[in-house]
Amino acid sequence: MLYQEKHRPQLHFTPKENWINDPNGLVYYEGEYHLFYQRNPHASDHADMHWGHATSTDLYHWEEHGIALAPDELGTIFSGSAVVDKDNTSGLFENVSGGLVAIFTHDGKSQQQSIAYSEDKGRTWIKYEGNPVIPNTKIKDFRDPKVSWHEDSKQWIMVLACGDHIQFYGSPNLIDWTYLSSFGKEYPSHIGVWECPDLLYLPVENSSKKEWVLIVSINADGPNGGSAVYYFTGSFDGKEFHPNEKPEDALKWADTGKDFYAAVSWDNTEDTYWIGWMNNWQYAGVVPVSPWRSAMSLVRKMSLNKIGGDLFLKQEPIITDNNKEEKSYQNIDIQNDTAKSYEISDTGQVDLQISKASASMEWGVKFVTDQDEVFSLEVNKAEDTYTFYRTEGLIDFSEDFPEKIKGSLHGLDIQELKVIIDRSSVEVFLNNGLSVSTNLIYPEGTVGQMEIFTVDEALQIENITCTSLDSIWK
Ligand code: FRU
Repeated sequence: MLYQEKHRPQLHFTPKENWINDPNGLVYYEGEYHLFYQRNPHASDHADMHWGHATSTDLYHWEEHGIALAPDELGTIFSGSAVVDKDNTSGLFENVSGGLVAIFTHDGKSQQQSIAYSEDKGRTWIKYEGNPVIPNTKIKDFRDPKVSWHEDSKQWIMVLACGDHIQFYGSPNLIDWTYLSSFGKEYPSHIGVWECPDLLYLPVENSSKKEWVLIVSINADGPNGGSAVYYFTGSFDGKEFHPNEKPEDALKWADTGKDFYAAVSWDNTEDTYWIGWMNNWQYAGVVPVSPWRSAMSLVRKMSLNKIGGDLFLKQEPIITDNNKEEKSYQNIDIQNDTAKSYEISDTGQVDLQISKASASMEWGVKFVTDQDEVFSLEVNKAEDTYTFYRTEGLIDFSEDFPEKIKGSLHGLDIQELKVIIDRSSVEVFLNNGLSVSTNLIYPEGTVGQMEIFTVDEALQIENITCTSLDSIWK
């Protein structure tokens, strides 16, 4: 039966077989959320890039479709976005109510931006005959156009990754593009190239305000090594992005884990949702899974939160399961040397509500398999960090894989911890998603136990809920 192989995620999107990487063309249209993605339809390595396609009505259960965009004389099809051209600004549709337009990079002799349109809800695409719409400008890395409508300046805005900076372009019709501005050369990091940008306008929690956020994926030099996503908060005036952060400020990471990359948002939705590729370019080509190679993260709802006058991203995972089974435990007291154990599912979720007043300095949660492999999450309040240990199971396939993966607590007490385990991944959300860490694991056995421990002081937990989730593939 399909989707039953060892390590096959049950709660995350994976293709039936072969390679995928970045999410592309995320757009909501006529009742469907579209998820296109970088795809090699013929093998499990990064080559011959197409756009694959899946759809969902709830951002959790996915149906895989065929190839949406295939290579042509201009090159293979690299990452990009899609929008609803509802007023037919492009003039590409016979119908006045328009349709979907995809904006993507052709990777050939050079990288150039092209478009295609679909009149049948994204199932088939016609490439624009005047492609490319932005020819190459001699910049080697010139890719990943993310387009959205900017109401104030009444134009389409494109953000484009250009090696060591982001370029902004504007257009009335998705075909004729004007260069507007550049951002980022003086900002770190430039050890790897910048990729897959996004420009978001997000609500600030507990206020009626919205603020602009510029997302950048960097191919190397992430907080725990390799690829990672970071962001700037600021303002956008229809021409330029003005960041709040200074180049010498610490980088704000969207996810401090090792396996969340190339994340971008859905267009044409009221709230903002995004999804990332759950892998890292350090070892993406050799992760020990077959016949598919790699998964998307869960979809996350995005907002901003003010901590000490500074704005941080908050991400809450979307799980829509009507058959979940929950077990809850209240008022648990954990002393040092008396860890408590709970039965959990290897496709499930655990939620802990910590009683703030007695939160311990050092405590943690271990996830244990039936072969006694341990994956642990340890909180160190004095250091203001938490660490995920991924040092057991299959780790030999890459020297960059085994890691102690650190994240920041942003000076906050942990009140809430959510962990989603899906056979070969662990996604950690602290304080309702103010700090997130996404990591792959490849246990030989099956995770079945959770142990909560503390090092010195007692830990009081108001509530523990262990939820077993149904496979999305049933
Ligand atoms: C990011 C990336 C993009 C590029 C695509 C190619 O992971 O390198 O910059 O468009 O993957 O598959």
